[in-house]
Amino acid sequence: MYNSKLYGLASETAIFLRSQMSGMTPDTRKQLALNFVADLENISGTNPEEQWRPESDVRGLRFSPQVLGIQPIPKLRNLYEAARTAFGLVRWTEFYEDDDWSRSFLANFANGEGFGPDGRLHHSSTILGLFVLGPNSLYPPHAHPGEEFYIVLSGHSEWQIGAGESYKETYPGSVMIHRSNECHSIRTIKEPLFAVFGWRGNIRAPSWYRKDMTDESEEKLYPKIRKG
Ligand SMILES: [Fe+2]
Repeated sequence: MYNSKLYGLASETAIFLRSQMSGMTPDTRKQLALNFVADLENISGTNPEEQWRPESDVRGLRFSPQVLGIQPIPKLRNLYEAARTAFGLVRWTEFYEDDDWSRSFLANFANGEGFGPDGRLHHSSTILGLFVLGPNSLYPPHAHPGEEFYIVLSGHSEWQIGAGESYKETYPGSVMIHRSNECHSIRTIKEPLFAVFGWRGNIRAPSWYRKDMTDESEEKLYPKIRKG
């Protein structure tokens, strides 16, 4: 039953997020993490409908053998196993259309929605999925009204949160919380990144960027999202 495997991913994600809460600052991020935990704990009660759509060719999935073949750190063991189990059940896409903004990273990018408007299981207010970004890639600074978390399962990467902020190292077990419309960016180095991610709040509103994210007078630009 794939439903129960996707529920397993939701419950292990909630357990892990809750376990990492004490180190989170500021309180707004902690509150967001708590809201995510509540959503994920309730997700099975919403009885989401299954929706199957054909998947396109997702080039970033060529890194699957690497990200699925690691020995997780002890505190990630259950969540990593749940993610491995759900890996073939989420709906993988490249998410973005090929354009000037996405071209540099899209061939290394794989976005797998388990729950969500376009996920394997329909959910209108929460997204839960898996994410792969190949090595030596930059997912450029952008933002979105929806609130977001990532939990790094494997791969040493660097994360920018806040326009113009420096990139900080992240490792398996790192949790990143992005507030509504907060600029963020991910840089991988030698290893592919494998992560669990979630969205809540205004999840229908599109992502945006500015040529210079620190200049609020610049117009917002919207990357093209793949249809269907
Ligand atoms: Fe994001």
